[in-house]
Formats: sequence, C-alpha cells, structure tokens
Amino acid sequence: MRKITEKEVILATHNAGKVVEMQSLLSSFNIKVMDATGLSEPEENGTTFIENAKIKALSAAKESGKVCIADDSGLCVHALDNRPGIYSARYNEPKKNGFMYAMSCLNDELGDKERSAHFSCAIVVAWPDGHTEEFEGQVQGTLCWPPKGDHGFGYDPMFVPNGYTGSFAELPAEVKNTISHRANALQLMISNCLK
Ligand code: IMP
Repeated sequence: MRKITEKEVILATHNAGKVVEMQSLLSSFNIKVMDATGLSEPEENGTTFIENAKIKALSAAKESGKVCIADDSGLCVHALDNRPGIYSARYNEPKKNGFMYAMSCLNDELGDKERSAHFSCAIVVAWPDGHTEEFEGQVQGTLCWPPKGDHGFGYDPMFVPNGYTGSFAELPAEVKNTISHRANALQLMISNCLK
C-alpha cells in the first residue's frame, strides 16, 4: 500500500462542500486539500463506483502532476438490483426536477418490494505515475416514505441507517459524518495511506 507523503493533495471535485469536509478530516495530518479548479472534468463512463472515482483521480493526477483524491457515491436499492447506483445523481434528472421528485419516483418504483438499501462511496488516491489505491465504504439502511428531515442532501430524507429511527436528513451532520459511506471510505484511506 503506497502512503501519501506529500503535504498537498488535490481533491478532484468541483463540489466545495466535499473540499471543506475532506480538509477538516485531513487537517490533523498536516495536509492541505486543494480543489480541482482549472482541471478538466473527464467523462465518468465506468461501470462501478471505484471505476468512476479512478477515472477522475487519474485524470487529475496526470494533468496536475500532484497526488489526487476522487470519490464517487450513490444509493443502491437491493430490490431494484442496486439501482440507481452509479446513476444516482442522474436518476430522473434531480438537477432539473429536484430530489423530491427523484425520491418519489424511486418510492413508486419500489412499491411494496423489500426496502433495504445501502449508500456506497468509493475513494481513489492517484499519483502522477499512474499508481492508485482504492477504497470503498458503505452504510446499510432502509428506505422510508414519506421522506423526513431537512438536513443533508440527495436521498438523505428517505434513508434510515440501520440502528437509528431518524433518516440521514434528521440526524445532525456530526452523526451522519461518523457513520456514513463517505466517512467509512475515508477512514479506510486514512488508515491505509496516512498512518
Ligand atoms: P457524487 O458522488 O457526488 O457523484 O454523488 C452521487 C449522487 O449520489 C448524489 O447526487 C446523490 O444523489 C447520491 N448520494 C451520494 N451520497 C449521498 C448521501 O450521503 N446522501 C444522499 N444522497 C447521496
């Protein structure tokens, strides 16, 4: 397993929230996280979360000459063969129609089928020489209806993590950020690449 020895890494995302979250998690390792401003956005044409994260991390590492970290995540509904999965950000065009609409389509599609689901998050670290380290974290739960809570984003209001009664959108961010798929993947990356 290759360690991150550099003091600066680029997070291959244009999402400012992810940069802030990653910066706070990596601050104790004295690593500065920079966003991917100016770097091109490659087509995410992989078939898994890991493949898509790898495409983004490698493209940014080769273009910038720096160590890059990328993630890819989504909601996998077990009774729907793990859909929407890698297409979560595009399922019923939430950017155009809003996530309430996407959630309602998902609920209709699910009908009275079994409601277990998980969120998955892949994190890939890539070096300019093409080396990568890959990690995947998950959180298991059940889909509720109607949606509840107003924290978080995406499918949070209809996802109740196992062991809790509230949805991800009802839990304080500090709680979600310790049990989430992203937190689990990041912890794996930290224990393997930074400790
Ligand atoms: P991306 O990893 O930023 O491409 O996000 C993928 C999509 O998965 C998001 O647009 C959301 O629809 C969904 N998603 C990923 N993580 C979460 C989460 O923690 N809560 C709710 N939705 C999520």
